[in-house]
Amino acid sequence: MDIKLAVIHGDGIGVEIVDAALKVLDKVAKKYKHSFRYEYVTAGGRAIDQFGIPLPDEELKKCLDSDSVLLGAVGGEKWDTLPGHLRPERALLGIRKELGLFANIRPAKLLPILKDACPLKREIAEKGFDMVILRELTGGIYYGERGRKNGPYGQIAYDTMEYSEKEIERIVRMAYQIAMTRKKQIISIDKANVLESSRLWREVTHRLNKEYPEVKVRDMLVDNAAMQLIRCPAQFDVVVTSNMFGDILSDEASQITGSIGLLPSASLGESGRGMYEPIHGSAPDIAGKGIANPIATILSLEMMFRYSFKLENEADEIENAVYRTLEEGHRTVDILDNGTRPLGTQEMTQKILEKIR
Ligand code: IPM
Ligand code: MG
Repeated sequence: MDIKLAVIHGDGIGVEIVDAALKVLDKVAKKYKHSFRYEYVTAGGRAIDQFGIPLPDEELKKCLDSDSVLLGAVGGEKWDTLPGHLRPERALLGIRKELGLFANIRPAKLLPILKDACPLKREIAEKGFDMVILRELTGGIYYGERGRKNGPYGQIAYDTMEYSEKEIERIVRMAYQIAMTRKKQIISIDKANVLESSRLWREVTHRLNKEYPEVKVRDMLVDNAAMQLIRCPAQFDVVVTSNMFGDILSDEASQITGSIGLLPSASLGESGRGMYEPIHGSAPDIAGKGIANPIATILSLEMMFRYSFKLENEADEIENAVYRTLEEGHRTVDILDNGTRPLGTQEMTQKILEKIR
């Protein structure tokens, strides 16, 4: 295949981990005879420094003209005091919206070999878990009306959470489709005891159940879900939820897999094009030190092959290379559970590259 990939290194550790992942991509492309053309995109903090805004039109256009997008991470303390519309994160939100990437898929599974890195009690870790969190990505409180106004006691700030039936339907439908390929179970997470948008979410979810009668749907309130995730993560298989709840719960889910440095994500729309990125942020505290875990970004490439290009062998090759490397006992510092010397980003990448032949 001839593929045009928009590459956004972004800020902080984004730079190191994307470079590492591209080495893996080059090797897989060579082995399977694909030609990847990289189109480098400047977005986030870097774009603010260079152009004064987080996502200039020409940079966005490069993403729109590509077959998929690979992103490291954006953001950092340096830009933390800028007004909302000029923050690096705005680049991410802009790309998601403009590319119509309404579905964010975040798999979280506890690898048997990393059980000791799981912070949960031994008996819970022993049971393991393997869930896919589906987060709505272009609606809800992230994109609702927001602003400030004057009130009798000073300023009032507001953000609004709105969901249309159509927005709920398309993400929940995807959850049903994924559930059909797995255990035919969905847990839909909301706050229907308080929020009207959640009550509509529930109605639509159950209405769609008629189209997928084999799938068993369970509703769970978000506060309870936060608790259940650490009490009994094994009960979750396919999870579907709104933008903000998904943001929060996916971080929690990542932490119980051992490290947020392991988890990839795919953001998809109606077309095959997607944006692939690790779920972690730019980690300014360790940026430039060469110790960041490249695995989440490398596994994001695995998801890209699977979801956008339907190239299963290439995806399996990457997944196996990562798992075998972990099985051999190699660890970056964030998942150090076996007393070995922690490997840096490049050394870890090298170990993974050696498995692809
Ligand atoms: C994520 C991140 C982003 C989000 C931030 C950086 C805007 O936390 O992808 O989970 O909240 O969506
Ligand atoms: Mg987040």
